[in-house]
Amino acid sequence: MKIPKVFLAATIITLGLISLAPVSFSHGDVQPQAVDITGLKELGKEWLEENPYTKEKTPDQIKRAIEIGCTAYNQNCARCHGLGVISGGTAPDLRYLEKDSEGDAWYISRIRKGYHQNGLTKMPGFEGIMAQEAMWSIRAYINIRPEDDDEAVVKGTGNNCQTLDYDKVLKVSN
Ligand code: HEC
Repeated sequence: MKIPKVFLAATIITLGLISLAPVSFSHGDVQPQAVDITGLKELGKEWLEENPYTKEKTPDQIKRAIEIGCTAYNQNCARCHGLGVISGGTAPDLRYLEKDSEGDAWYISRIRKGYHQNGLTKMPGFEGIMAQEAMWSIRAYINIRPEDDDEAVVKGTGNNCQTLDYDKVLKVSN
């Protein structure tokens, strides 16, 4: 039997790739996802009690924070708290968190430590996994999700980070 050399080479390369694949793809969607915080003001090591990004009066910074927060939320929080921050009931609906600085303090303590009850982890803590910058950017995104916008996910605007209406959002958040 005559098998062309090119075909043989292609087969060997393909088999090689297949054997590598499970290593890179395993558990991809359940592990916490790294968050790219490029473009956000760095916050240092000290834990803040108030969201520095929504207090910021430069629209570019707020916009960037919401943009990063949207993606980070969908990758790390949506599976429990719901796409577009509309909870399906397994975990609290985060749109109803207090939006003031008390709400900030509560939020950051929960996301850092998570929630554990009777030895069970109901929510994982994200300290050491996610940078403080990423945590506050998620808070900035959560804050702009309107409480009466249950339709948004259906229309594809609430959870689609690319089509967020930033002009509208920046008016609401200030
Ligand atoms: C494995 C599921 C799960 C994941 C993932 C998860 N959470 Fe939670 N979260 C919960 C549950 C369950 C609670 C309710 C715990 C309680 O009784 O306070 C909760 C509570 C909270 C609260 C307090 C809510 C309130 O009404 O007081 C905040 C804030 C919060 N989560 C933020 C986040 C953020 C931000 C992320 C992503 C970075 C996240 N959570 C990821 C399950 C999860």
